[in-house]
Amino acid sequence: MAMNQSNVDADLFQAQAHLYKHVLNYLTSMCLKSAMQLNIPDIIHSHGRPTTLPELLSALHIDPAKSCHLYRLMRLLVHSGFFSTSKSDGEEDVGYDLTPSSRLLLKNNIPSLSSYAQLLLHPVMVHSSESLGDWFRSNEPTPFHTAHEVGLWEYISQNQEFNRFFNESMIGDSSMMDLVIKDCKSVFEGFDTLVDVGGGNGSVARIISESLPHLQCIVLDLPHVVQNLQDSGNLKFIGGDMFQSMPPADSFLFKLVLHAYSDEDCVKVLKKCREAIASKGKEGKVIIIDIVINEEKDEADLKDAKLFFDAFMMAVVTGREREEKEWEKLFLEAGFSHYKITPVFGLRSLIEVYP
Ligand SMILES: C[S@@+](CC[C@H](N)C(=O)[O-])C[C@H]1O[C@@H](n2cnc3c(N)ncnc32)[C@H](O)[C@@H]1O
Repeated sequence: MAMNQSNVDADLFQAQAHLYKHVLNYLTSMCLKSAMQLNIPDIIHSHGRPTTLPELLSALHIDPAKSCHLYRLMRLLVHSGFFSTSKSDGEEDVGYDLTPSSRLLLKNNIPSLSSYAQLLLHPVMVHSSESLGDWFRSNEPTPFHTAHEVGLWEYISQNQEFNRFFNESMIGDSSMMDLVIKDCKSVFEGFDTLVDVGGGNGSVARIISESLPHLQCIVLDLPHVVQNLQDSGNLKFIGGDMFQSMPPADSFLFKLVLHAYSDEDCVKVLKKCREAIASKGKEGKVIIIDIVINEEKDEADLKDAKLFFDAFMMAVVTGREREEKEWEKLFLEAGFSHYKITPVFGLRSLIEVYP
């Protein structure tokens, strides 16, 4: 065979491997989901040392005939970095151990991303992403509408169990913030009142209110989210719609909220904050915790995760993950004059926006 021909073949086969790798990549997610359903990270953790396949099988109480399949599940998850393997002296079998990413899936550890990861992989969410193609051809506002006939927030308000699951999952994601918020105390200092807009069940506001006892913290979220939550000390819950009215305050926090809304909606809400700050007659600010896409600077894993989150937003809501210039445009349109971005939360940045 001529040399040129074999080069072409090699390129074609490489392209084939690249194609199949991405077409079947959802199986990494699904195998990870099975591992979470089977509680494998916690079983390995409580074992206290690397866990062999027979040990894992007996702890899982599953059919011994499945042992060769469990090995295949673990092999893929070792390959994708969720478990590591090692062999102790004299042991015949390799033992599986946790890696930093599967450690984040331990249910009773803080932080735990177990339920947030399961939310991202929930059939309700996955089904929306399957509807992307149909949505492009339809006049529906989001693929979520195409899949479920209503938007995400309405769906949540109509499904009590999913509402509970959604809000509890967000606590896990926020528990990562506990690591950093105490170091960022100065960001929240110097104000009388902070409104955590779309603050869910108040896990972040609680951390802030405890570190700053003189700051009045208000969580504003939709009525079905805050209906059973109790005020305590300097933390208060208000049920309402941020598009309708905003409590008066000199500082506003939006964590993982604006990325769920279109530019037009974000400008509307940010304008309300600016008016509320102005009515207080003193300096104030808006604090945003969200992704800032920086394709040139972000290393591979970070860039992948940010672009996946953007596609996730496209599948479930009207929002998007934004680049710095896209954020800037929103701030200027809403009448703010300047901003500062600090990338302190890994995937997410802290954005401080000033009138
Ligand atoms: C992704 S969650 C983030 C929750 C919380 N900030 C956190 O990071 O844990 C988005 C939140 O925005 C709330 N939300 C959505 N639309 C809203 C609206 N129009 N008014 C008030 N809250 C809203 C949702 O109910 C939900 O709790």
